[in-house]
Amino acid sequence: MTTLPWWQTAVFYQLYLRSFADNNDDGIGDLQGVIAHLDYLQELGISAIWLSPHYPSPRVDDGYDVSDYLNVHPDYGSLDDFRQLLDAAHARGMRVLADLIPNHTSDQHPWFQASRRRQEPYTDFYVWSDDNQRYGDARIIFLDTETSNWAWDELRGQYYWHRFYRQQPDLNYDNPLVQEAMLDVMRFWLDLGLDGFRVDAVPYLFEREGTNCENLPETHAFLKRMRAMMEAEYPHAVLMSEANQPPMETLRYFGGKPGHPDVPGDEFHMCLHFPLMPRLFMALARADRSPIVEILQRCSPIPKNAQWATFLRNHDELTLEMVTPEERDWMWQVYAPEPRMRLNLGIRRRLAPLLDNDRQKIELMFSLLFTLPGAPVIYYGDEIGMGDNSWLPDRNGVRTPMQWDDTLNAGFSVARDLPTPVIDDPVYGYHRVNVRAQWSDPNSLLQRIRQFIHVARAYPLLATGDMEVIQHDEPALFAFYRTDGTTKVLCLHNLGESALQISTPAGADLLTGERIGPGPLQLPAFGFRWIKV
Ligand code: NOJ
Repeated sequence: MTTLPWWQTAVFYQLYLRSFADNNDDGIGDLQGVIAHLDYLQELGISAIWLSPHYPSPRVDDGYDVSDYLNVHPDYGSLDDFRQLLDAAHARGMRVLADLIPNHTSDQHPWFQASRRRQEPYTDFYVWSDDNQRYGDARIIFLDTETSNWAWDELRGQYYWHRFYRQQPDLNYDNPLVQEAMLDVMRFWLDLGLDGFRVDAVPYLFEREGTNCENLPETHAFLKRMRAMMEAEYPHAVLMSEANQPPMETLRYFGGKPGHPDVPGDEFHMCLHFPLMPRLFMALARADRSPIVEILQRCSPIPKNAQWATFLRNHDELTLEMVTPEERDWMWQVYAPEPRMRLNLGIRRRLAPLLDNDRQKIELMFSLLFTLPGAPVIYYGDEIGMGDNSWLPDRNGVRTPMQWDDTLNAGFSVARDLPTPVIDDPVYGYHRVNVRAQWSDPNSLLQRIRQFIHVARAYPLLATGDMEVIQHDEPALFAFYRTDGTTKVLCLHNLGESALQISTPAGADLLTGERIGPGPLQLPAFGFRWIKV
């Protein structure tokens, strides 16, 4: 029997450092705060943490504007704290991933400051031009803020290229020194003991005239170099891509040969499943499995040595960039009725509010997360059904302090002032929604999610097994088998609000322990079952 690499069957937890736990009472989450709550994550069953950007940064883009790749933001602690976190996590059998942001730096990064002055070796570290019409086919991503991908720099007397905020100049990957520098950044953290990276904004590394400057062959070539370095020097570690692209383009980030699972992937071990995510919400709103079934067909097969990272929500808006304009309008109507809930081409809301705080629907979506192929990534706070605050600017409303208990500031911090306020409304406020209350309540969402995690970890085939969709006349019924050749699990989901009568083979319900069938079974509105047959 071959052992699977750890990340293929891991349960990931995306942890927003700034908002998770404040240990030094300054109102900002920090690394020691994470260490203090590792027991919670361990008891929850989490196998790996993905930390949001921890680097020094002026935080125009909440840390995705890095001003020093080799250090820790003083708000979050020190390099020594980082080492302590790695040791403490490893001691509990947990892994830690960090964000790697290779596409751009902050405009405050010394490399950019030197480049503006044409100081060697940094003169060509960024993409400079006299002409702001170059690469005109590249779209603008932060549509609500930026009108061009070029910004003028007075000091250098040239324009520089940026795919995100103007304070985030893109690095120039045509310069071999930039490529080397980024590989060295990776080595620095992996040498400290880090277990991998979630790699930000990978499609945009290179620019070429006459293209949309995304997914270029040159970009893939560099990513293969990254992977080759990892294989040679850190074979235990994982690379997870953030590529929000159409199915075929997303698949290419695994490398290998699309359509040929036996050809090993040679780019990312894992890709965040951006094609699937919005279709889960679409299928639920339409009470129709077909958006999910179609996208899964278009997104397979993947190399055998690869894995999807599936997710429901993250620290960004629910992106609708890759659905049709009609689908986007419809999704906005259904899921973002107020204009302030929209941002760029997406929806800035958390899971529970998106689903009207309907417990059945929330559980149903988590059930899909845990039973569809891939390793699930849980966004901090969604396990207790946290709310959001769409009055806050940018994406801050989905990055509010973790609600630990019903004491001051939700137990997140004892500071008087918090840069991001805790949620304190009657429905999602921390007096009602918090970890402590849910931990001791066997019927809470938190305990339900904990159960899902434990079953999912006991049945790795839910992450890696084959999937067989069962055809059925009722569109709201999404039934499929997951199997590893020896064990077979029947997963039933009712995406609609009417109960369904179905017939099942004999089996055991993995969540309740009940014996089932053979024979008729009622699946209530938004109900689901995981049945070992
Ligand atoms: C994707 C990150 O998830 C997002 O938060 C960030 O703003 C952009 N990349 C730019 O780094």
